Amino acid sequence: MEKRGTMRQGEAFLTTRSEEETTYTGMVLGNSIREPLVITLNGELGSGKTVFVRGAAAGLGVTETVTSPSFVLLKIYRGRIPVYHFDFYRLDEAAALNDLGFEEYLPGDGVAFVEWADNLPGIIPAERLEITIERFHDHGGEGRRLWLMPHGLESSWLVSRLIEGVTWRVDGKLNMLPLEPFSKENGGRLGWNC
Ligand SMILES: Nc1ncnc2c1ncn2[C@@H]1O[C@H](COP(=O)(O)OP(=O)(O)OP(=O)(O)O)[C@@H](O)[C@H]1O
Ligand SMILES: [Mg+2]
Repeated sequence: MEKRGTMRQGEAFLTTRSEEETTYTGMVLGNSIREPLVITLNGELGSGKTVFVRGAAAGLGVTETVTSPSFVLLKIYRGRIPVYHFDFYRLDEAAALNDLGFEEYLPGDGVAFVEWADNLPGIIPAERLEITIERFHDHGGEGRRLWLMPHGLESSWLVSRLIEGVTWRVDGKLNMLPLEPFSKENGGRLGWNC
């Protein structure tokens, strides 16, 4: 994994210490999404990409269970806007060289989450939110670092909303406040009363 000495403007990172915390982080992000967008997810096997997408899909109003699309390449869910969940892990080069027609979703009329996007960089648009997840171990046990690198105004706005929206308790656990379901009026505001 690339070592990052400096952070670019708008870039952020946060730490989670359980699957639930990563799901919640995804939910906060998904809850704020207002328009079609591409979100790429990279990180080793089992780092938590699908867990994050599961949360984000819930934040986007998907009620179906989100499962890994690694065998089928793409799963589609109905949310406030359509949710396209790609996984390019098993994509072989022959398939990649053929036109699979994925460009129409990148972006299309919905939010496209792309796991293992680095396996097919050619079809990823410049404007996107790039997420990299790293596993770490320390005195507190196992955790994940989520790097959020916005490329474009909408994803910059989303990252700043996410960072404003998550807080930690003194014991280091994420404050998992209930989320108000997204509406045009509240723009996906965080709150107690839902
Ligand atoms: N802080 C954490 N955040 C997310 N997942 C965690 C965390 N701690 C432990 N886990 C576990 O790590 C696993 C993450 O699995 P997940 O399927 O999301 O990974 P993935 O990155 O999508 O892998 P793949 O590349 O195979 O698709 C789950 O079993 C989850 O319970
Ligand atoms: Mg996965």
